[in-house]
Amino acid sequence: MLNKKLTFGLVAFASLMTLSACGSSSQSENSLETIKEKGTLTVAMNPEFAPFEFKTLVDGKDTVVGADVEIAKAIGEELGVEVKFSTMSFNNVLAAVKSGKADIAISGISATEERQKVYDFSDTYYESKSVLIVQKAELSTYTDTDSFADKSIGTQKGSIQETIAKSNLSSAHIVSLTQPGEAINELKSGQVQGVVLEEAIAKGYVAKNDDLAIADISLKSDSTDAYAVAMPKGSDELKEAVNKVIKELKAEGKIDSFVQAVYEQSLETSE
Ligand code: ARG
Repeated sequence: MLNKKLTFGLVAFASLMTLSACGSSSQSENSLETIKEKGTLTVAMNPEFAPFEFKTLVDGKDTVVGADVEIAKAIGEELGVEVKFSTMSFNNVLAAVKSGKADIAISGISATEERQKVYDFSDTYYESKSVLIVQKAELSTYTDTDSFADKSIGTQKGSIQETIAKSNLSSAHIVSLTQPGEAINELKSGQVQGVVLEEAIAKGYVAKNDDLAIADISLKSDSTDAYAVAMPKGSDELKEAVNKVIKELKAEGKIDSFVQAVYEQSLETSE
């Protein structure tokens, strides 16, 4: 009798082990259910990307805020779970979703064809394009892509701006830095002559730095640049829930107003 119980217990334990092993190896099998069971949604992001995600002091505490943070909170609400932000450098954000360290990534991520092969993406929520920031005093020197021959260009490591810089400015030296802020500092100190960033982010830096300006040069890109939420491959149900939230936010014009609110706030604080 005792033996039977023990065997049963062991079998039950063994199958539990297989179940959990199964769960971790293919966390995408039903990511929505897993998140609801956990009661938390872990979101990977690189918070050096105002107006989408950046750190600021709220009641004296370092807090991540911005349009992507609001989107994450709305998704958490839809799923009925708590949202946790896991912050890291941008070149680790997608990998965190792949390894299961984060459930989703919201970080101004452009849903490129290449990335779509590896991750599921929600519907896009913001259209963007890359621009070149230069020192204001050098605006007349840098009038086309050829004027950057043998010059240095800063970009963010792991971002599509690395590729865009390489293909548009093939005769320039491309310097990849971990954070956009580092690239901006190098531009201000003259170590690089241009920085490729997306327009919404570039506008923020230019508004705060009198010595910088956006060059009148258009950069070509193979595909349209639009941001989406990244999830593990096979996240059908989760994707449906995320798309519902994005659809609602877009219909209410909320995403643009989140972005606008950040600009207005930062103008107030820099006055
Ligand atoms: N949209 C670009 C990309 O997906 C840059 C995103 C950078 N995001 C960030 N939070 N630093 O490659």
